[in-house]
Amino acid sequence: MLQTYIFPMETRAHWDNTYTTKSDTQVSWYQPVPERSLALITSAAPDPSAAIIDVGGGASRLVDALLAEYYADITVLDVSEVALGRSRERLGDAAEKITWITADITRWQPQRTWDVLHDRAVFHFLTDKTAQDAYVAALMAATKAGSTIIIATFALDGPERCSGLPVQRYSAETLAARLGPDFSLYAASKETHPTPFGTTQQFSYAAFRRRS
Ligand SMILES: C[S@@+](CC[C@H](N)C(=O)[O-])C[C@H]1O[C@@H](n2cnc3c(N)ncnc32)[C@H](O)[C@@H]1O
Repeated sequence: MLQTYIFPMETRAHWDNTYTTKSDTQVSWYQPVPERSLALITSAAPDPSAAIIDVGGGASRLVDALLAEYYADITVLDVSEVALGRSRERLGDAAEKITWITADITRWQPQRTWDVLHDRAVFHFLTDKTAQDAYVAALMAATKAGSTIIIATFALDGPERCSGLPVQRYSAETLAARLGPDFSLYAASKETHPTPFGTTQQFSYAAFRRRS
């Protein structure tokens, strides 16, 4: 299923251009297997009937890993149609099992809720309060009491930029403070991500349960 929303052209243009000009292994965030994300998702929602959305999933192989775990209700949202097209092409016929949403998370109006919402390296691009508030509003609309929210950002000692754009760095605690009291932090960890270029980046992973 394909859904498309309206979003600011400059955000879409930046990311479409990135995915058009760079292969998977030419971007710093590439992971052959997104192990930590998968572990957090499978422990939060072991039942394969759980509904899972990867926000800003891009061309990530998380969707492949979720299919391999037999999850039956998977959605991938990204502002870049080029990125989603790359994942669809990689998956072949299995892409039909996924709901693909082309949308800017800060303008998206979800039509349903998910049990698990995952975001690796998307929220940290929102450096102004208005955009962050819009993201939190989308988070509220896309989840329900008891839903799990897993967000990975650059850590406080991580890079200051990603894909040529400035980022806001977080610890699990500063992210919890930014999301607000509706989300209860239950797991926090740091990861040294090896980029395909032989460098490393410090990531912060935080898992929350929505209170009500
Ligand atoms: C650094 S990449 C991470 C991709 C993927 N999560 C991963 O871990 O491989 C950031 C992704 O967020 C997407 N993105 C950036 N801003 C967005 C927004 N406002 N709404 C939705 N997606 C966005 C980009 O297109 C890109 O795919």
